Amino acid sequence: MLYFPYLHQVRGNSANCFILHILEQIFNTLIDSFIADKVGIAKDFLNSSLASGLKSNLTKLYAEQKLRTAGIGNDILTDVQKTIRTDVIYWLDRSHNDKNENDFFDLMDEFVLHLNRTCYTGITGYEFHYAMYEKGSFYKKHLDQFRNNESRQYSMIMYLNEDWTEGDGGELCIYPKDEASQNISPVNGKSVFFKSSELEHEVLVTNKTRLSITGWLKTG
Ligand code: OGA
Ligand code: NI
Repeated sequence: MLYFPYLHQVRGNSANCFILHILEQIFNTLIDSFIADKVGIAKDFLNSSLASGLKSNLTKLYAEQKLRTAGIGNDILTDVQKTIRTDVIYWLDRSHNDKNENDFFDLMDEFVLHLNRTCYTGITGYEFHYAMYEKGSFYKKHLDQFRNNESRQYSMIMYLNEDWTEGDGGELCIYPKDEASQNISPVNGKSVFFKSSELEHEVLVTNKTRLSITGWLKTG
């Protein structure tokens, strides 16, 4: 279920129309690069205040030991799963009544509206989680769409790492079919967008704590 409260505030006032116009330019950067390269990248998808608010949330949740290994509801993972990914996650939800999470969802609502309007994508839902990769963590090469569930259409990742430099590792490595792989650095505010069923990708070993929000736009 999608919510669109942001629209009430934004539409019908010229200053807010201007903000919407800027947002649409950022959305188009992501969509145009996706169409050209199969991987969309927009550098300032999250503005610095939203990125830092989400980062403080994630850091607080981590300190409160709310983050968990992905896949199942408890801490027990098979050895096989542990060799594939070593990050810990926490799902965002409007029911948390958190200002930053809700601002993030408002932004995603705008993005989904824009995507559906301009690309006829028919997205009807989404899910997003925070992810923390501690030093030494990784996520081996994989596809985001499950074999028994095709609802995930597009993968979207947003990074929350200020002062990221080469040598810190933790790049997202994308493996397009029949083309050279591409490394993307997890720099603050950047968003990456690609088709969940098509692109294999990997998170390379990170040399320092690596923070992000990862999610999927869904149909059905
Ligand atoms: C994932 C994933 C990539 C990243 O969570 O499925 O591939 O750069 N994340 O964090
Ligand atoms: Ni993935």
